[in-house]
Amino acid sequence: MSLEANKVFAAVLTAGVVFMVSGVIGGAIVSPRRLETSAIQVATPEPAAAAAPATPALEPIGPLLAAANADTGRQVAQRACASCHNFVQGGPNGVGPNLWNIVNRDHAAVEGFNYSAANRALAGKPWDYESLNAFIARPSAAMPGTRMAYAGMSSTSQRADLIAFLRTLSSEPAPLP
Ligand code: HEC
Repeated sequence: MSLEANKVFAAVLTAGVVFMVSGVIGGAIVSPRRLETSAIQVATPEPAAAAAPATPALEPIGPLLAAANADTGRQVAQRACASCHNFVQGGPNGVGPNLWNIVNRDHAAVEGFNYSAANRALAGKPWDYESLNAFIARPSAAMPGTRMAYAGMSSTSQRADLIAFLRTLSSEPAPLP
């Protein structure tokens, strides 16, 4: 072995010994102790004291109808309902029943339409403004078991305009509440 190589070898060996010894001495001087609880506390949020009701009460639609815009409501209906419903007197049923004269018409009243059992159970009860409002806002909540596959319309002002339009689908529109 050359002298140079010997020097390098010795240097590496010395470094290793120094490293080992300093580790032993360091451990003797400072003895680490594990903390029993974490020094950093992460606040966990309290569960909400009173959970909000699943279906918050709907604002009544009646008082909003006088100022509602039936023309805007017609556009809302074209967008949201016309894929399934026809609005014309004597018009056909689609996926949903014809909606001519729907305000104050009895539930499940269109002859020959295949209504759900949930809706047929309400036959004889009229669709007043507030029941239309609740049904359009959230069909599955207002009528569990309904066949109307529509998620619902959350905007109160859009529902007011839409129901004002539905009211016009009659030769004798129902009086405003
Ligand atoms: C995906 C199709 C579909 C869409 C979209 C839809 N409906 Fe319906 N609708 C139905 C079906 C099906 C029924 C029958 C429900 C039942 O019997 O449970 C129904 C029933 C109804 C009824 C009750 C009618 C009766 O004779 O008892 C009303 C009122 C109504 N829909 C209004 C609307 C309005 C307003 C919209 C738009 C916001 C709308 N629907 C959107 C399919 C639809």
